[in-house]
Amino acid sequence: MSKAPDPRLAAVRALERVLPGEGDGASLREVLARGVPDGAAGGLMRDLCFGVCRHLRPLNQWLNGQLDKPLKPKAQAVRLAVLCGLYELWFTERPAHAVVNAYPELCRQLKAGWASGLINALLRKADGLDPARVFADYDPAVRYSLPGWLWRSFQQDWPEQADDLARAALAPPPFTLRVNRRQQSREQALAALGDGARPGDLSPWSLYLSPPRPVSQLPGFDSGGFSVQDEAAQLPVEQLAAPDGGRVLDACAAPGGKTGQILEAFPGARVTALDLSARRLDRVRNALRRIGAEAELVQGDAAEPAAWWDGEPFDAILLDAPCSASGILRRQPDVKWHRRRTDLPPLVDLQARMLDALWPLLRPGGRLVYATCSVLRDENDRQIADFLARTDDAEDRTERPADAAPVAAGWQLLTRDNGPDGFYLACLHKRGAADDNKVTDQRS
Ligand SMILES: C[S@@+](CC[C@H](N)C(=O)[O-])C[C@H]1O[C@@H](n2cnc3c(N)ncnc32)[C@H](O)[C@@H]1O
Repeated sequence: MSKAPDPRLAAVRALERVLPGEGDGASLREVLARGVPDGAAGGLMRDLCFGVCRHLRPLNQWLNGQLDKPLKPKAQAVRLAVLCGLYELWFTERPAHAVVNAYPELCRQLKAGWASGLINALLRKADGLDPARVFADYDPAVRYSLPGWLWRSFQQDWPEQADDLARAALAPPPFTLRVNRRQQSREQALAALGDGARPGDLSPWSLYLSPPRPVSQLPGFDSGGFSVQDEAAQLPVEQLAAPDGGRVLDACAAPGGKTGQILEAFPGARVTALDLSARRLDRVRNALRRIGAEAELVQGDAAEPAAWWDGEPFDAILLDAPCSASGILRRQPDVKWHRRRTDLPPLVDLQARMLDALWPLLRPGGRLVYATCSVLRDENDRQIADFLARTDDAEDRTERPADAAPVAAGWQLLTRDNGPDGFYLACLHKRGAADDNKVTDQRS
């Protein structure tokens, strides 16, 4: 019988691929999609990967401060092993002696026996220190484990909320589900899940489950009774409106979370799910199969409709645009180390081109809902304010709570602990000959 892989070793190998250094820059999601040990070992491996990606900067800073001579780049695996050990000591409840004892052996497995004594000494020194005190003197961007450019963007865009935003990006995300309204009410779902389930405040179909459970243990998951989806991500579809038999475009559809939600909300609609990536469209197909729904899947560029549009206008369009993902750093902490400041202008430009290209496809009286999982204003309210300024027949009709963050257009949600992700949406109405009275919302 083959021995189960050591989860700490597996975590170091995964982090070597994901984090800057000698790796291939793969995303954490990609790396964790396969090769994760079963059961508790897999849970430990995942936790180490996410934890180190979340807290990378202050852990590195402390480590560097302890060394007389910097670790060589080729000792990256040893560095990552130390960071895993520090994370375990400082951010988990695992017994310190077990953590301290595990890492010298890990160095031997990494064929870096020379580092066993070093790692033992470092972890012994770290044990008993309070990370909040240790990190208190660090520069804020280091303390919050953010790249400098992103911390500055938070400060510029959200001078009063920047600290809360940065702190929220360090906390593990809640486990949030969307109830399939075609199959059960939210009350029935809450009763079926029992202890630990509570409804969300903003989305009528959301519920939180704490502690999280594997989806295989959710009653009715396999037959589409639930989908895993953040509460904020559930809001854009709730702002769409589509007549029975009407045509809806989900313009950046993969992996299909919102396509499924559109079909749950508007079962009589004809839905087109478009994505640039044919490979990612397979995920849409699988997601729809699970909930027993169907859409037309089209591979194409949302900014170039001439190549795929048949000329029949859409009654509603969802544009869930590619973005910085700065609102979901707690879910995808590796994004912090992959994104560059220079990625932003091309993304903002692509979003603007998509808006301009898709708007003519919308029937007068229809709605286009624009959404991003970003908290950066260039991608969000400034993007939409610019669009409104250059588009005569567009009007902002976003429904938002009175206490929403004040922005130039749309609705900006800022990440909340144990609540929704950072997210932006704007519901844009198209004025024109066909009055909106003709658009009856067929959601049931
Ligand atoms: C934020 S994700 C969409 C998430 C999806 N709406 C959901 O709820 O599951 C953005 C998607 O846009 C796609 N994309 C990027 N550029 C695109 C383009 N030019 N045209 C169409 N899709 C594009 C990406 O492949 C990615 O699947």
